[in-house]
Amino acid sequence: MTKLKWGMIGGGEGSQIGPAHRLGALADGHFEFTAGALDHRPDVGREYAQRLGIAADRAYGDWTEMLAGEKDRTDRIDLVTVATPNATHFEITKSFLEAGFNVLCEKPMTMTVEEGEEIVKIAEKSGKICAVNYCYSAYPMVRQARAMVRAGEIGKVRLVVTNFSHGHHGDATDADNPRVRWRYDPAMAGVSGQFADCGIHALHMASFISGDEVETLSADFASTIASRELEDDAMVNFRMQGGTVGRLWTSSVAIGRQHGFDIQVFGETGGLRWASEQPNQLVYTPVGGRTQIIEKGESGLYEEAQRLSRVAIAHPEGFPLAVANIYCDLADAIRGETRDGLPNAADGVRSMAAVHTAVQSAKAGGAWLDARPSIFR
Ligand code: NAI
Repeated sequence: MTKLKWGMIGGGEGSQIGPAHRLGALADGHFEFTAGALDHRPDVGREYAQRLGIAADRAYGDWTEMLAGEKDRTDRIDLVTVATPNATHFEITKSFLEAGFNVLCEKPMTMTVEEGEEIVKIAEKSGKICAVNYCYSAYPMVRQARAMVRAGEIGKVRLVVTNFSHGHHGDATDADNPRVRWRYDPAMAGVSGQFADCGIHALHMASFISGDEVETLSADFASTIASRELEDDAMVNFRMQGGTVGRLWTSSVAIGRQHGFDIQVFGETGGLRWASEQPNQLVYTPVGGRTQIIEKGESGLYEEAQRLSRVAIAHPEGFPLAVANIYCDLADAIRGETRDGLPNAADGVRSMAAVHTAVQSAKAGGAWLDARPSIFR
């Protein structure tokens, strides 16, 4: 099968998420790395792109140059990944969609709900794919959990409890470290710190596994390190459209917790638990029965989970291959196959609406507010 052509904006040398995209996009042979504007410093980006094997005429200095260079080529890229800092996502994603490219945008998709709604409309109008990198949803055992809920294996879902809490910004003496500080500075991060950074992964996962969407929420935000303007800890209670009760805790000052993302889904006839630090195991307990550990790679998994496992049982695959699963689904979608579960612009705008609603709720002492974007009310 002919390889698809892939380009990336951001994700330069030394960036946090760039390597996961490169490993992910190239892991299964669906894509070749054809074009890039990888760094905010044009020369550095061009040089790095060429070191990664991109031809000199497609190693661009910035994204506008890349758009101009790619749009009229007959062999133009099939997919562009946007892995730049948050405030640039909207403009780049919008411009590439309007020019007829498929886009994978990092989370958060935009800074405002209005921008998010605009992206949903542009994506619909263009007929192109606009995916958002909620990559944890592509772990095989998360897909297994979703399939089990859909098949009724735990009955109607009553309750979802999820945490994305780590302790890596918990050192007050390091709070001015430039890699940490921007996340709590509204000029750089927007209206929310930890909830927009990590909480939205947990919120997306709650919807992804339960099959339900957030309707209302009540939030309590805290800046436990006093110099921080934005929250470094948040507790968000939510209710979903189908009646599911949700509880979410996200923190960056939970010293001792490492990655710290886990989710439990409790239904009328059973419960499930998955944690990012043990991603190959899904814990399942039927009501009145014994707790069982379902392992990636074992026989009898749902097709959605089996299809995204590559190596034999008990061998770890891990985060870059969860990102690779997103790219597998994208490759299939670009080639015309429907891929249920690929996070999209609708998921992106729902997250932004939840972020802005949580900020308002926290300011109003935890008031319960409608958390749906207006286009989904
Ligand atoms: P970073 O600060 O480590 O790297 C950003 C990279 O983008 C750098 O190479 C920088 O030179 C480049 N860049 C900045 N502005 C640019 C521009 N205008 N044009 C081209 N390149 C530009 O940031 P990090 O942590 O890699 O985050 C990037 C995005 O990925 C953020 O939106 C973040 O929320 C998201 N992210 C998502 C994760 C996930 O699990 N899905 C995990 C970590 C980050």
